[in-house]
Amino acid sequence: MMPTRVKHMEFRHLGRSGLIVSEISYGNWITHGSQVEEDAAKQCVQAALDEGITTFDTADVYAGTRAEEVLGRALKGVRRESLEILTKVYWPTGTGRNDRGLSRKHITESIHGSLRRLQTDYVDLYQAHRFDNETPMEETLKTFDDLVRQGKVLYVGVSEWNADQISRALKIADEMGFDRLVSNQPQYSMLWRVIESEIVPLSEKEGVSQIVFSPIAQGVLTGKYLPGQPPPSGSRATDPSGSNMIARLLNDDVLARVQELKPIAADLGLSMAQLAVAWVLQNPNVASAIVGATRPEQVHDNVKASGVKLDTDVLKKIDDVLGSIVERDPAKTVSPEKRP
Ligand SMILES: NC(=O)c1ccc[n+]([C@@H]2O[C@H](COP(=O)([O-])OP(=O)(O)OC[C@H]3O[C@@H](n4cnc5c(N)ncnc54)[C@H](OP(=O)(O)O)[C@@H]3O)[C@@H](O)[C@H]2O)c1
Repeated sequence: MMPTRVKHMEFRHLGRSGLIVSEISYGNWITHGSQVEEDAAKQCVQAALDEGITTFDTADVYAGTRAEEVLGRALKGVRRESLEILTKVYWPTGTGRNDRGLSRKHITESIHGSLRRLQTDYVDLYQAHRFDNETPMEETLKTFDDLVRQGKVLYVGVSEWNADQISRALKIADEMGFDRLVSNQPQYSMLWRVIESEIVPLSEKEGVSQIVFSPIAQGVLTGKYLPGQPPPSGSRATDPSGSNMIARLLNDDVLARVQELKPIAADLGLSMAQLAVAWVLQNPNVASAIVGATRPEQVHDNVKASGVKLDTDVLKKIDDVLGSIVERDPAKTVSPEKRP
């Protein structure tokens, strides 16, 4: 598959590193290998390439490892140097007691599986998908560093680590001479701003970027879920693999407030999804917003958020509409106490 029609897309550096990523990236959680058929998955990837997206995010665990296989097939034939491929390790990929976590054994076995499924010699960014309370951080960081030396991984990052964990990892890396973390992958949207008080200030100081997930709140910020109504057919809320993930957001107070964002988006000539993606990109610590899609039209819609500037009175109007439903508590960034 080759990009046929590159449109307007802006790019940002990942942390203090030399790596450049597209400010909108494409992720395949819940969709590839699960909610959508392979043809639709390939069409979404093609739409992303056509729109100038170069950064693709997946994980070993998505769809029980099938998501990486689908992405590998969908990107086959695309010039490897024109892509940034991101994957992750931590959640279980098998039933064995070592098929999870951030031990040297699991990380080493998992990266080999990911490279095989993605049909690539290296991934651009390898991310610890949660914090592992059962592995010394030195073991994880040393293993990541070894993978960098081996050329299997070019940069390392984390996902949903809290500020204390990120800060300790940077200190260990500096003391031991390991490669430093360049990114964190947290949930971030107009509705979920828990990174703003601690993680973002630390990351700005330390040269770490956020690559944020669920910027459209899994579809909720498109406004397509109406209060008091059943979810639209074919949406994540009606999908067996996705419905329990989105359930928390589907309460009438949230859905009613989201409806009130519609005039703000309309005044700006933006779709609701574009407003949601543009909102996270106003934060300069965000290197990229990872959007998911079940249909190519969604990709074509969402990418138009690239380069959009929202002025302070628009941001204030959004805050006034959402009010108390915005979650800001930094203590909501948690990893499992014990490995799952
Ligand atoms: N690190 C982590 O722990 C973690 C966790 C979650 C996600 N992620 C990453 O972040 C990526 C994005 O997460 P996400 O899928 O939750 O993000 P999202 O972009 O907030 O939601 C994507 C979903 O919203 C719906 N949608 C998107 N654009 C739309 C549009 N224009 N109009 C109508 N509906 C639209 C689609 O679902 P329907 O069509 O089914 O409604 C789509 O699959 C994942 O693929 C993954 O790479 C990481």
